[in-house]
Amino acid sequence: MILVCGGAGYIGSHTVFELIDQGEEVIIVDNLQTGHKGAIHKKAKFYEGNIKDRTFLDRVFRENEIDAVIHFAANSLVGESMENPLKYYDNNVYGTQVLLEALHKHHVKKIVFSSTAATYGEPENIPIRENDRTEPTNAYGETKLAMEKMFKWADFAYGIKYISLRYFNVAGAHVSAQIGEDHNPETHLIPLILQVPLGKREHISIFGEDYDTYDGTCVRDYIHVTDLANAHILAVEKLRTGSNSKIYNLGNGEGFSVKEMIEAARKVTNHPIKTVSADRRAGDPATLVASAKKATNELKWHLKYTNIEDIILSAWKWHQNKPNGFEE
Ligand code: UFG
Repeated sequence: MILVCGGAGYIGSHTVFELIDQGEEVIIVDNLQTGHKGAIHKKAKFYEGNIKDRTFLDRVFRENEIDAVIHFAANSLVGESMENPLKYYDNNVYGTQVLLEALHKHHVKKIVFSSTAATYGEPENIPIRENDRTEPTNAYGETKLAMEKMFKWADFAYGIKYISLRYFNVAGAHVSAQIGEDHNPETHLIPLILQVPLGKREHISIFGEDYDTYDGTCVRDYIHVTDLANAHILAVEKLRTGSNSKIYNLGNGEGFSVKEMIEAARKVTNHPIKTVSADRRAGDPATLVASAKKATNELKWHLKYTNIEDIILSAWKWHQNKPNGFEE
């Protein structure tokens, strides 16, 4: 049995769908702070509660034969983390501490962890490799790095093996269009672009056109959420074969600028999508592109979605299917 903490969130729910497709028994823990009831797979056993609650977690581990944990339960907004860093230390770092205490107490030795490219900060090399310098430029990235360090020492002391997956820009939706991205507030580029053809906003703002990139706008590495979900399953399998703890980047190794993303969305939606120039957003590095060679070689991870228009199309189908997200 696999326990998925944060299994009602965007990436967590897509991972649960893939796990269940592969015949795994899944338990979800989620406090529904940012997750959605509508994103919970019907075949998963659901516990509503907070990972910071020791008594609650104790019950979940006692009532189920858990052999591995996948941990998505964290706050993940860069801007919010700069205004309220202690919320991030409390939910992300302290939450992970309590979760690790439960793993230790119940003799569970495998955990896959949702980390981020934000652990690197301003990159020293492009593409970014796992051994590159980690110097986060925001509190969110700093808490994820602190969580990675906590895993390292929990492995050293208690033999809890971990695989930390550092995501780049996650996008798209499940092929069924029944689950997808639904954040409130929404801050991510693709869902915001798609709000224009959906008639929910007039234009998309381009945050900075004077970056040191080929067209002046920020370049990011976009990866489909189902490909990302599959990497988690491969990581659990790797831990089950007795692997040591590992850190992997997850991206597709190719960058797209904000302007290229808008152009691709115009093709997919057949809508002119008006743009407006805006100031740079604080803390945005010019280019973030992953080297995912290590994950390809060691996890045998291969992308199903390599075309940016296919990624945007899957998001577009979800938003057309559920224009108000999971809200009924
Ligand atoms: N952008 C715009 N206009 C918008 C929204 C975004 O121009 O209305 C730009 C941003 O400035 C950025 C790019 O589009 O250059 C992508 O922005 P996102 O907010 O979609 O994604 P980020 O690259 O900022 O952040 C993502 C994750 C974070 C994670 C980070 C790590 O959402 O959780 O990658 O690199 F920390």
